[in-house]
Amino acid sequence: MIDSYNRKINYLRISLTQRCNYKCIYCHPNPTDIPIDSKIIIRFINILSTLGIEHIRFTGGEPLIRKDILNIIEQTRKIDLIKSINITSNGSLLDDMAPSLLKAGTTGLNISIDATDKNLYSLLSGGHNIDTVIEALKKSLDVGLNVKINSVLLNKYWKEQVDQLFELGKEYDIPLKFIELMPIGLAVNYKGVSSDQVIPYLKSKFGEPIKSEIEGNGPANYMNFGGVNFGFIDALSHNFCSDCNRLRLLSNGDIKLCLYQNPSCNVIDMINLSDLEIKNIFTKIIQEKNEHHNLNEQSIELSMASIGG
Ligand code: GTP
Ligand code: 5AD
Repeated sequence: MIDSYNRKINYLRISLTQRCNYKCIYCHPNPTDIPIDSKIIIRFINILSTLGIEHIRFTGGEPLIRKDILNIIEQTRKIDLIKSINITSNGSLLDDMAPSLLKAGTTGLNISIDATDKNLYSLLSGGHNIDTVIEALKKSLDVGLNVKINSVLLNKYWKEQVDQLFELGKEYDIPLKFIELMPIGLAVNYKGVSSDQVIPYLKSKFGEPIKSEIEGNGPANYMNFGGVNFGFIDALSHNFCSDCNRLRLLSNGDIKLCLYQNPSCNVIDMINLSDLEIKNIFTKIIQEKNEHHNLNEQSIELSMASIGG
């Protein structure tokens, strides 16, 4: 699919549930939702793959809450045109799942870790234990899953966060992605930091960065400081809309062309249509994808989970 700004849309993010077992200080999930059936998800991945979708990312809320996640991944892997299946998770429910996730067809895992100090992690995550996540992270690396860390840096703690996460990246040779806080839900009460602050800080510690060999399917730009690969996702200060390659399927069936755009349609309304009719609808609606978001002028009241983070 090519949209009206000549962007190739080949990446589908699927929020499997709006629920999450965490209550991060800047993101509280929806307590309930009625997620769409896995058969509908697989049918739409299949149809969308014939329109050019190659990369799938399962997100939430917390996607591992869904008991049928392994089956969803296995069914996705059977779709020939799909090249990668990734998961974004807080890692707390991973435990011993890594071998089964890999066997089912998972290509990679982005684990959200905002700090490694016990107290700071607990404060930011709403009382959770970092050790559980690190144990699961080690098991994921042991089985050969491609792991990256996602961290949202907060103005009040960012230097501590960067220092702690650098050590984690170094110890396990894992790329770190720093995500600029977006004004969504509770996050409007906090201030984030962007690469404009973090890069000079890293330069002051490690000198000039060297080019990184990391290539994601998403918006991060990577560089290597002190032997660790850092990616920066600055949706506000350096928006990456002109390269946006994604489409979103939310757990209630809504299709969103942009995180910040209202849903364009709902897949549940289309289940009685033929594959060809559905393809025609998508080919048409993709042209409505906004050129860019206007988050710098507005904030969003709903949580990240309910808008399809
Ligand atoms: P890679 O495939 O590893 O490059 O992953 P990714 O960055 O596409 O996915 P991930 O779920 O790890 O994304 C990390 C964070 O980036 C998300 O939680 C969002 O905060 C932000 N993000 C991802 N996609 C978008 C997007 O389309 N728009 C905006 N503004 N932010 C996004
Ligand atoms: N701004 C940026 N990132 C956010 N996340 C949750 N809320 C926000 C926000 N307001 C991040 C989580 C996790 C990823 C899935 O989304 O910390 O890393």
